[in-house]
Amino acid sequence: MKVLSVTSELFPLVKTGGLADVTGSLPKALMSCGMETTSLLPGYPGVKQQFDTAVPVMHFDNLLGEQATLLRGEFDGLDLFVLDAPALFDRPGGPYVDADGNDHADNWKRFAALSRAAAEIANGLLPDWQPDLVHTHDWQSALTSVYMREMGCKVPVVITIHNLAFQGQYGADRLNAIGLPDSTYTTECLEYFGDISYLKGGLQTADAITTVSPTYAREILTPRFGMGLDGVLNERVMSLRGIVNGIDLDVWDPATDPFLPRNYGATTLKRKRENRNVLLQRFGLEEDDGPVFSAVTRLTWQKGMDMFADTADEVLYRGGKIIVFGKGDHEIEEALKRTAARFPGRMAVHIGYDEPTAHLIHAGSDAIVQPSRFEPCGLTQLYALRYGCVPVVSRTGGLSETIIDANDAAMSARVATGFQFHPVNPDGLRLALRRALDTYSDTRNWARLQNQGMKTRFSWERSAEKYAAIYRELVRRRVGDAQAFDA
Ligand code: ADP
Ligand code: GLC
Repeated sequence: MKVLSVTSELFPLVKTGGLADVTGSLPKALMSCGMETTSLLPGYPGVKQQFDTAVPVMHFDNLLGEQATLLRGEFDGLDLFVLDAPALFDRPGGPYVDADGNDHADNWKRFAALSRAAAEIANGLLPDWQPDLVHTHDWQSALTSVYMREMGCKVPVVITIHNLAFQGQYGADRLNAIGLPDSTYTTECLEYFGDISYLKGGLQTADAITTVSPTYAREILTPRFGMGLDGVLNERVMSLRGIVNGIDLDVWDPATDPFLPRNYGATTLKRKRENRNVLLQRFGLEEDDGPVFSAVTRLTWQKGMDMFADTADEVLYRGGKIIVFGKGDHEIEEALKRTAARFPGRMAVHIGYDEPTAHLIHAGSDAIVQPSRFEPCGLTQLYALRYGCVPVVSRTGGLSETIIDANDAAMSARVATGFQFHPVNPDGLRLALRRALDTYSDTRNWARLQNQGMKTRFSWERSAEKYAAIYRELVRRRVGDAQAFDA
């Protein structure tokens, strides 16, 4: 089966978060289920630089008023289309924000254009390639199915929600500029509290909706986690499924990771120490024996990093050290830096985003802290497990089902892998940090947790098969519909 995956980021070409990890690794896993995925992504400068072997296959003279060329090729085992539209994507900054961190003012047009191009491909634009199914991800590609339905294109569409907090909400006056008729401005399609919502349009027009963990699939049906879309999701609940993310076991493997000073595995865990020494030096921290608790994450309210700024002293007063590496909201960055300033040599906060450092932190730390207020799936806790770090996480979304709390029962059954806390507030986090520190001082129990974590397998196999089953079902249903129509 031929699948078109439409995404605004894809590892290793462009990444701001877990979305890229998923769109970069799922196609490979789907191959063994008989799915041939080609991914469409925007031609950001970094993408074009790295992927200079892509060749033009089609030109758009008027893609929402802009010139664009569709490039095609293979990169790192992935089949790709790149939408080269210089007026929309060739500019400094990141995929969504400019160099000052402000949203690009024309994001509404940039991602509408991406979706429009995807819809044209689905509708048979290319003489030699048409997908049997389209898979869109988050609001940035959600309009694809809206355009497809307007074109009368019946190719089935799966939309995956990676994060409901970002919805692509714009003024309804943009409708004409994105080439959609007024008839799409209804509560059954794009209309959203007087505006238009790209994500809502996608949720209303896709054939199946998935999200990245079964727990988050349930949570988003409630007003607390539904971010205003719980009503829509409840109406479509029969088409909603939670499928937990896998990780790329080749990219995240401490035994072969090229970014580590010293490779190691479950039987050579002692070698983590060499990584830890390099890590502590790199972050300017004292090199004593206390545990290293780290966070590699977006520094935002979602990730609960304000709570970590308030509770870090729990770790530091007990002889631990803290490394925070990430980027995000200015206020939260400042709060973390203020805490670090009180503990020179014991807590380091580095504002930045860089893949090798993220790998080194997992290799050199003892625990990874992820106190998210909501977390659709979360990948850092899975990387932590694989690298022999013990995750300390809130009990929400994917965190609640990928980590087994180290309570007495789970410890004696030898299945525990980390520490969970609930309710998700600073007191809860403080208590979990305390429990983790207590366990750390019991070397045998800590080693047991590390080993149990390293044994858990979050490969894509099972989850990819679940996506494949949905793909097959939708295509089978479509063929059935067409036959019924012919009869
Ligand atoms: P989200 O997508 O919500 O940010 P995930 O846990 O799913 O959360 O994925 C985060 C991804 O981004 C992981 O691959 C993680 O390693 C990476 N990441 C987060 N912060 C940084 C950073 N400062 N530098 C490099 N990679 C980072
Ligand atoms: C989002 C979510 C995160 C998830 C990732 C990949 O960014 O915040 O929880 O792991 O997408 O699906």
